[in-house]
Amino acid sequence: MADSQIKLAILAVVVLAIAARSASGNGPPSMEFYMYIAVQNNSLLDNPAPFTAVQSAAPLQNQSFDFGKIHTFDNPLTTMPSLDLSFRIGRVEGWYGNTGQSILTLFLVQTFSFNTTEYNGTLSLVGVDVASDAVKYASVIGGTGDFAFARGVATQTLVSIANIQDRTVSWFHYKLDLKY
Ligand SMILES: *[C@@H]1O[C@H](CO)[C@@H](O)[C@H](O)[C@H]1NC(C)=O
Ligand SMILES: *[C@@H]1O[C@H](CO)[C@@H](O)[C@H](O)[C@H]1NC(C)=O
Ligand SMILES: *[C@@H]1O[C@H](CO)[C@@H](O)[C@H](O)[C@H]1NC(C)=O
Ligand SMILES: *[C@@H]1O[C@H](CO)[C@@H](O)[C@H](O)[C@H]1NC(C)=O
Repeated sequence: MADSQIKLAILAVVVLAIAARSASGNGPPSMEFYMYIAVQNNSLLDNPAPFTAVQSAAPLQNQSFDFGKIHTFDNPLTTMPSLDLSFRIGRVEGWYGNTGQSILTLFLVQTFSFNTTEYNGTLSLVGVDVASDAVKYASVIGGTGDFAFARGVATQTLVSIANIQDRTVSWFHYKLDLKY
């Protein structure tokens, strides 16, 4: 092989390697973090407490298992189950709707956004779960930034729940298993 051909071959390999890296994402194979949610108590609509989730739609008549209700949320993501800002790593925004007619069931569509020097990008999830299940699963259907082209499964468990008169406050733990 002539010298110039060898150089071209090496260049091609380098270009392919760069292309493969940018096309496959270089995010982590797994992640763990916590999510906080404070759902507004609708019987106290004028309460000034800070909520992260509010009811944003409901059927004209109340249904069993709140069938048809939709909540909009913007919840903080943290490395520890604490609202101390030093633990903040991002947020999750989306909607959950009550989609069960025989058991309390939620359908969620949501995007997790991370904005730290370690992780910068988004992950989008879709899934349905029975509220009383101890462990809940959702599909990771894609990502951007560090999480570009992600696929995976999110495992969600309840850490704590408290009904304070004006809101229901919960912490959840998330484990994400990801492929790119
Ligand atoms: C639905 O139920 C809530 C309380 O559970 C009540 O405040 C509201 O008036 C009811 N709405 C309808 C349309 O019946
Ligand atoms: C992300 O972090 C950078 C640097 O800390 C900050 O300037 C920017 O406003 C943040 N963006 C969002 C959407 O939070
Ligand atoms: C994350 O990426 C965005 C867009 O590339 C950039 O504007 C932002 O500063 C980055 N945030 C951090 C914390 O590096
Ligand atoms: C919501 O507020 C009402 C009125 O104070 C109270 O009766 C009810 O128990 C509260 N609900 C929750 C889930 O805390």
